[in-house]
Amino acid sequence: MHFNFSSALAQLIAPLRYKCTLAMGRPYFGTHHRAFQGAPIRFAYMLETVRLLPPKPRILEVGSWVGGSALTWAEGISRFHQASGSVLCVDPWEPYSDSEDAATKALDLRDRMANAARDGTAFRLFQHNVTTSPHGHLIQYRRARSTEVLPALPAASFDLIYIDGSHRYEDVRFDLQQAKRLAVEGGIICGDDLDATHDGVVRAVADEFGNVSCWHGYFATRRLAGPLDRVELPVTRALPSHLRRYQRAIARVPEP
Ligand SMILES: C[S@@+](CC[C@H](N)C(=O)[O-])C[C@H]1O[C@@H](n2cnc3c(N)ncnc32)[C@H](O)[C@@H]1O
Repeated sequence: MHFNFSSALAQLIAPLRYKCTLAMGRPYFGTHHRAFQGAPIRFAYMLETVRLLPPKPRILEVGSWVGGSALTWAEGISRFHQASGSVLCVDPWEPYSDSEDAATKALDLRDRMANAARDGTAFRLFQHNVTTSPHGHLIQYRRARSTEVLPALPAASFDLIYIDGSHRYEDVRFDLQQAKRLAVEGGIICGDDLDATHDGVVRAVADEFGNVSCWHGYFATRRLAGPLDRVELPVTRALPSHLRRYQRAIARVPEP
């Protein structure tokens, strides 16, 4: 059997690094508790998307986990909109199952996320990350499922809506339909995991939107009918500051 020494060492060090980072009052997005989710390169494109938004952008996020994407939106508001705007996060921070998707069929990922959600670690880490980030003051949250929160929000009240909650087909479909109602005309609807391991997301996006723009699994479209719905982004490798530790890892990722 092949033994990978550096990955075993990283696993060993991860809890220590987690504790030290928390003790130092800094945001944590390492591997412990699956704090970091998804492919780092996607966050560069997410950050770049915020540049396209109008002044004082209002952003809605479904599925926040410990805040990696929420802080990306918030940093985008700080960088491109003079720190004027808002991010509303919706997440129950409780165990959930995406069992129809190959990605979460991996027991390790599912169990580690379920444990961190069940004992409150994920929610506490979200709060820690938000309060220790210089952009955290732009973030508000509602601790509930999207089905409980989204229908009560007023129509056309967000400039960008990011969908990364449950990855089951019916749930994604619901979130995308609500996003259409909640986005302003020309607003951006985007999300994570448009890839081969997330069948529920792929089918729901295809059924709701047809073709969408996509960068390494991060997708986006505009709330407009017809050919104007594409979202154009330049090639980017610039990660938000809370994810800089992944900068080297994405250096050689091919262009989408
Ligand atoms: C893949 S994680 C999100 C990762 C996060 N967007 C990031 O990039 O760091 C999925 C999150 O969706 C949340 N979730 C699951 N079902 C949900 C639902 N029905 N409504 C809102 N959030 C949900 C989970 O609690 C979990 O925190």
